[in-house]
Amino acid sequence: MSARVSPPMSGMGLLEAIHHADILALADPDDSDGDGISGRPNMVGDGKGGLVLGRFGWKAVEPTVERQTAHAFAGDMGLSTPVAPDHWGDCTERQPECRALPHGAQSQFGDEEVPRDLLDLVVFYSRNLAVPVRRQIDAPQVLAGKKAFYGAGCVACHVPKFVTTRNAEHEAHRFQLIWPYTDLLLHDMGEGLADNREEGLADGREWRTPPLWGIGLAHQVSAEASFLHDGRARSLVEAILWHGGEAQASRDAFATMEKADRDALIAFLESL
Ligand code: HEC
Repeated sequence: MSARVSPPMSGMGLLEAIHHADILALADPDDSDGDGISGRPNMVGDGKGGLVLGRFGWKAVEPTVERQTAHAFAGDMGLSTPVAPDHWGDCTERQPECRALPHGAQSQFGDEEVPRDLLDLVVFYSRNLAVPVRRQIDAPQVLAGKKAFYGAGCVACHVPKFVTTRNAEHEAHRFQLIWPYTDLLLHDMGEGLADNREEGLADGREWRTPPLWGIGLAHQVSAEASFLHDGRARSLVEAILWHGGEAQASRDAFATMEKADRDALIAFLESL
């Protein structure tokens, strides 16, 4: 068992439209540039015998918004879709009673509880949830915080920007300059954050760098919003102080900077 909070969903269609080569180019699994940051892709099955880049989920185990959505229907809600057609969600072979319980498929709509057209609508909606507009981008404290964010090496993993591909499925996602602050790669985040649970290629200490766009609005969206994969961090400061492993040096740089710079860095995050 490993606890998880649900991640923010903005900009998923844009993250899906980053060319996989741009993400793979950031990987440095053997840390050949010696900066202490490796980063490796979670390559997952494409369902046809090949491998594709995982992008979504706390361990980047889902390659597309469609698969993320279908597996959420299955694992979180116990509902079958054409992509994950079992009616019993994540009940295992050892739970035959669970598997034999009635399900909600209706023959006039096909074999699954969530038919193709309904799945497509939820995927379309999820792909097109907009990224919030930034606030106070020119405020001196925010600009100072941006400098501190770069200076502390946060950008080694929270990579600021990408340009999406020209052949994304939806026109709105094509050739866009985006600022997600993630490399979508896995990093060893140390013992303190480890859940010792493997997912795909990700080991028990690895997590995908989460996007930071929209993070400044988290507490407006929900007063109880919390950070990191299991929601253990009540504030952005706590989230940063939990960073270990490959991020230890960056975390220490944050912890030892002047208080004014630390406050500015948080003001920058709150402007995202
Ligand atoms: C080695 C890569 C790496 C570096 C360097 C790094 N981070 Fe992270 N960051 C991550 C990963 C991976 C997570 C998710 C960890 C988890 O959920 O257990 C994360 C999570 C976060 C979160 C919480 C996001 C959320 O949605 O819950 C914030 C905020 C954050 N980082 C800010 C920073 C700041 C500020 C710095 C620089 C001081 C920094 N990070 C440096 C990889 C990195």
